[in-house]
Amino acid sequence: MMGILASGVGFLKLVMSGAFVTLGVQLACDEDVQKLGKKVFKIGAVKKIKRFPLDNEHTTVLGITRHGKTYATVKTLEQETGAVFFWNVQEEKVKGFIKADKSNNIEQLSNALKSGKKINYVPSGDMELDSKIFGLIVEEFYKKNVSCKMVIDEVHLFDMTKDKGGKMACRRLATTGLRRNLPCVFISQRPALIDNTLVTQSTQHILFALGDNDTNYLKNMGLPVEKIKEATGQEKYRFCVYDLKEVKGAFMIE
Ligand SMILES: Nc1ncnc2c1ncn2[C@@H]1O[C@H](COP(=O)(O)OP(=O)(O)OP(=O)(O)O)[C@@H](O)[C@H]1O
Ligand SMILES: [Mg+2]
Repeated sequence: MMGILASGVGFLKLVMSGAFVTLGVQLACDEDVQKLGKKVFKIGAVKKIKRFPLDNEHTTVLGITRHGKTYATVKTLEQETGAVFFWNVQEEKVKGFIKADKSNNIEQLSNALKSGKKINYVPSGDMELDSKIFGLIVEEFYKKNVSCKMVIDEVHLFDMTKDKGGKMACRRLATTGLRRNLPCVFISQRPALIDNTLVTQSTQHILFALGDNDTNYLKNMGLPVEKIKEATGQEKYRFCVYDLKEVKGAFMIE
């Protein structure tokens, strides 16, 4: 009788400990799922906005190709009210801009900007020539005291030419442009290739998914790349805004 009772208790203990083990595993699983859920939710929490903020300081727009840098910038510029000079390498359609190219003389560009117009400048595609032309345009804007937002797409292309006109003009804008009321938006899919002055002189960064080389480069420049990657989830069209203090977002243009 005692034997039967003892083995009954033993069996019960076994079942209960088994149950606890099962329960323990279950609890751990639930916790993991909850954690995962939170992470998925965090990455999924994207706020749709009409434009990204632009102030009168320099901004960079960085991230890997085809993730929406030019699209987001164009939508933002369409809603700008003051004069804008957009160096539109990708020939993106822009509403409310006057189209210009190398057939326009620089004086015409200056006058249009001085009267508050927005210019969609489509470069020729000959990188050496375009570098020279951009250098001359900036020179003229300084001489004529033109003030406008300067928006340069694919700015790393100026670091790939023999002609240094474009590169030097960008560096000049980055270092002395704010004094001349020429705040810039520098856009690039290869931040590691661009003159680091453009990054260091910018007080706002619009960041899309980042490639490995560029992640390391931006990390060395002091950007909180892990937070940035977590915010965008490295997903297409998502970006965050880093204002040297905090990472905001993710956002997506509607
Ligand atoms: N928020 C969005 N909603 C819908 N489509 C988008 C959005 N953002 C970008 N796209 C589309 O995705 C494509 C790539 O976008 P975009 O040309 O802006 O990329 P990019 O980052 O400038 O690439 P690259 O560095 O190669 O120039 C385009 O066809 C664009 O219309
Ligand atoms: Mg682009």
